[in-house]
Amino acid sequence: MTTTTSRPLAIAAEGLRKAYGDKTVLDGIDLAVPTGTVFSLLGPNGAGKTTAVQILSTLVTADAGDLRVGGHDLAVDPQAVRAAIGVTGQFSAVDGLITGEENMLLVADLHHLSRREGRRTTAALLERFDLVAAAKKPAVTYSGGMRRRLDIAMTLVGDPRIIFLDEPTTGLDPRSRHTMWGIIRELVADGVTVFLTTQYLEEADELADRIAVLDDGRIAAQGSADELKRIVPGGHVRLRFADRSAYRSAAVALREVTADDEALTLRIPSDGSQRELRSLLDWLDSAGIEADQLTVHTPDLDDVFFVLTDGADKPAEAVR
Ligand SMILES: Nc1ncnc2c1ncn2[C@@H]1O[C@H](COP(=O)(O)OP(=O)(O)O)[C@@H](O)[C@H]1O
Ligand SMILES: [Mg+2]
Repeated sequence: MTTTTSRPLAIAAEGLRKAYGDKTVLDGIDLAVPTGTVFSLLGPNGAGKTTAVQILSTLVTADAGDLRVGGHDLAVDPQAVRAAIGVTGQFSAVDGLITGEENMLLVADLHHLSRREGRRTTAALLERFDLVAAAKKPAVTYSGGMRRRLDIAMTLVGDPRIIFLDEPTTGLDPRSRHTMWGIIRELVADGVTVFLTTQYLEEADELADRIAVLDDGRIAAQGSADELKRIVPGGHVRLRFADRSAYRSAAVALREVTADDEALTLRIPSDGSQRELRSLLDWLDSAGIEADQLTVHTPDLDDVFFVLTDGADKPAEAVR
């Protein structure tokens, strides 16, 4: 594997394997996350994202693999790994029966902070995550977004330099999701390395320096969002028609297109460049075709995801 940067790796895995019974969850995967970057492990439900997080954060042992986190070998010195990392699990670690502040102080205790230091850290993090007003209320009364913010605040108590966030925005409303993205960007600006799992392609596209698509226990592709987008066929122009007869004559005139008879739309392969669009429009004009709507679609991670994970049409050589 080649890395595009010479920064030391915060997380490195080679040949990571894990099976539960006869179900192989991770079938020998390689990961490399340079320090101070965001790495996103992307995959559908059940792909093995949480298992990877649990292994790299020492909660579960791997069956095989050469694994290093924060420069420490997981097999040799899990304690040192634990000291270097913070983990926000897929399911909240927040105790709903006590207040947000009490949750924070509990974590400070676990980190053996002095009472005074614990209070100082708690106050600073509650402030940073906009939880001061709610600090004295039982966490059970918090919204999903507040609970997630408290979860991350608790993860940050020990000032970890490597953070695992397992689906931090699943189930959040759009506003809370954007808040969470802001939090993640701030962490990275502080030099923290973030290992993020998500089911949302848009999220990986927004945040991640590198993305690995997990499918069937293997890394189906790995690269920057742009690199991944390059492995799927280019974009297209979509023509939508309001009336069926116009649609039909256009479909006949434009032979090399994908037609959707239900939606009355045609997809014409196009790179979306001004030149291609102009020649397409000229051609439509001369053929007397007038669509009701024309949209330009550039490949996005959704396209990549579907190509890589639907089992069919997989590119022979994925980006590494
Ligand atoms: N402790 C476990 N025992 C048995 N099977 C498990 C265990 N944890 C996860 N699995 C299985 O491993 C697969 C991957 O799970 P998981 O890592 O949670 O996926 P994801 O987080 O991507 O949704 C699933 O098929 C799941 O049922
Ligand atoms: Mg999971």
